[in-house]
Amino acid sequence: TCSDYKGVRRGHLRLSMVTTAKYVIPRMLGPFCERYPGIDIELGLLNRDQVLERLKDNLDELYIMSLPPADESFEVIPFLDNPLVVVAPLGYSYSRPPPLRLLDLVAERFIMREEGSGTRMAVDDYLAKQRISLRVRMTLGSNEAIKQAVAGGMGLSILSRHVLGHPPANEGLKELAVEHFPLERAWYVLYRRARPLSLIATTFLHFLLRETGAMGSTSVSSTVPSAE
Ligand code: PGA
Repeated sequence: TCSDYKGVRRGHLRLSMVTTAKYVIPRMLGPFCERYPGIDIELGLLNRDQVLERLKDNLDELYIMSLPPADESFEVIPFLDNPLVVVAPLGYSYSRPPPLRLLDLVAERFIMREEGSGTRMAVDDYLAKQRISLRVRMTLGSNEAIKQAVAGGMGLSILSRHVLGHPPANEGLKELAVEHFPLERAWYVLYRRARPLSLIATTFLHFLLRETGAMGSTSVSSTVPSAE
């Protein structure tokens, strides 16, 4: 409730997050800012490598990404699923009854995120484990541009489901049924253990974890600093 956060009046919150989170977090900021109108937020939208750079340089208070670094100096809290799915143009017809096998994808052309992207890294890691390599026709540094290229018939892609419209058909896309997909990944919120969170950052962290239902997990609620 609001009274938990009585101490928060004015201030500035700086956070950086990966590009796929832009479909979720800014939407949550509306209700947050309504509740705390004195807080202004500076939000950096970057790919995973760039978020890691900022984390290394200690530039923000909170960071959101999947595939967090294994580093004891950060608190790392999972808060939302980030399933990766195979995306095709709406008119795509299956060459065999779905689900497709992973091997069927070898015949397709793909449009992938750039090196340094967490989405790309998750996909590459997974395919390497399966000993499959896909034909990458084009690399693009933007989920939006990839969606346009896929809808335009350039090829298929593997993207976070959060990036897709509701329903994907609104944007001329569809999610394909492929064995082993979605790849189940999660987003994490991170902060430096050695840098005590400001009251504002703590308040936002609580808000984020409550809104996404993550606060219900004991392992999460016991990690998070109190907002009082
Ligand atoms: P990306 O990151 O925007 O770099 O692909 C996605 C993620 O880490 O979930």
